Amino acid sequence: MKAAPSRSSSPLRKARLSPYCAFTFISFIIFVAILYGEDFRSTLSQRRQIDRADDHLADRSTSRDEKIPPFAIGRTEEGCDLFSGRWVRDQSTRPHYEESDCPYIQPQLTCQQHGRPDKDYQYWRWQPHACSLHNFNATVMLEALRGKRMLFVGDSLNRGQFVSLVCLIHSIIPENAKSMEASYDSLTVFRVKEYNATIEFYWAPFLLASNSDNAVQHRVQDRIVRRGSINKHGKYWRGADIVVFNTYLWWMTGSKMKILKGSFEDEVQNIEEMTTEEAYRMAMKSMLRWVQRNMDLKKSRVFFTSLSPTHTKSTDWGGDQDGNCYNERTPIEDPMYSILDSGTSIMQVIRDVFGKSTVPISLLNITRLSSYRKDAHTSIYKKQWSPLTQEQLANPVSYADCVHWCLPGLQDTWNELLFTKLFYP
Ligand SMILES: *[C@@H]1O[C@H](CO)[C@@H](O)[C@H](O)[C@H]1NC(C)=O
Ligand SMILES: *[C@@H]1O[C@H](CO)[C@@H](O)[C@H](O)[C@H]1NC(C)=O
Ligand SMILES: *[C@@H]1O[C@H](CO)[C@@H](O)[C@H](O)[C@H]1NC(C)=O
Repeated sequence: MKAAPSRSSSPLRKARLSPYCAFTFISFIIFVAILYGEDFRSTLSQRRQIDRADDHLADRSTSRDEKIPPFAIGRTEEGCDLFSGRWVRDQSTRPHYEESDCPYIQPQLTCQQHGRPDKDYQYWRWQPHACSLHNFNATVMLEALRGKRMLFVGDSLNRGQFVSLVCLIHSIIPENAKSMEASYDSLTVFRVKEYNATIEFYWAPFLLASNSDNAVQHRVQDRIVRRGSINKHGKYWRGADIVVFNTYLWWMTGSKMKILKGSFEDEVQNIEEMTTEEAYRMAMKSMLRWVQRNMDLKKSRVFFTSLSPTHTKSTDWGGDQDGNCYNERTPIEDPMYSILDSGTSIMQVIRDVFGKSTVPISLLNITRLSSYRKDAHTSIYKKQWSPLTQEQLANPVSYADCVHWCLPGLQDTWNELLFTKLFYP
């Protein structure tokens, strides 16, 4: 295995500390202040008023009055739940890009290239009930990343969100000014040269160390996760300015989770069994502890993308007995529809652990809005890893992928939510 590049000696790190960088950062603030003059001034004056009020009223504290989070350039209307809304058909502003115009999409997600007959899934816009999402603006995103490192950590669904973000911004960057490379096994880096900016993806499907950590050959039958081992991966995440975590599907083994207490090298492995919920709770706590110990939250932001739902049984939404996402072309319209499987108790764990924590982590609660999107999966329109048998070909339902999502598509919306939470918290 190749050695990981050392972060502390990278040019990126040095650049971040240079006076020139401070200068560009200040210029950016001014740039933003001019563009978003009203918002910015009013947030500042709001802030001053709060400071004054605080002098008189020491115990005055509502969550809205806390200091402005890093990267914020405005506010989302108070009381607006971005995650509660509906899908609106929109053929004028969607999709944000064409599949064929984004060379970074992995062949598991290029549905058009693999013969999907319709593009219906590309023309939906998420409309929250109480307000609107801010339009994704690639210029704003890229300027904010100047001299910065943005990192997605998790499984293949997070990789999809990472690629979607790269697709959303890459067209404004000249051809010779950007690159995508796998710098070592678990890390993929998209680099914007003139900006000294990177957007990266780190493969760690459990966040903790596990026997599924090989980014290429990770399809193991008997999954084992090692307790207290987040630093095995976490040491490569240090210095990131924006981190987006996810982890979920790999925990859904259908039976108890095997948790290793010692090391994978021990001759006799000390393995304990835990329920999925207990094991997941352990991982969530490790993640929050890692953030607390390793990130400067005065300058950086952390997000967690909630469970990505699957559509493996049509009966869940009142469809055919033997169907799944294959051939689905429209979202589920019933607003009360939600995944009814084990996801519910995992969501409860997330709510619980985040609720008790003081770490300011923003939840991208994509679960329900994605659960309406039975039409958005890659289904059979993706690269197949092994040749299909006659039986499979005769019955496409049997090999449809109802886990991953076509790009462009649903995951662009996840990034619009990320954009809104990052800049307009
Ligand atoms: C970007 O990095 C290069 C070296 O990699 C350095 O020469 C340059 O000054 C940096 N630019 C900024 C804006 O930090
Ligand atoms: C996610 O959003 C849905 C829809 O608004 C809500 O029902 C659910 O409780 C939220 N989950 C969490 C963990 O906040
Ligand atoms: C994106 O933001 C830039 C800079 O703030 C602005 O000039 C541009 O008009 C915006 N683009 C869109 C499509 O809103």
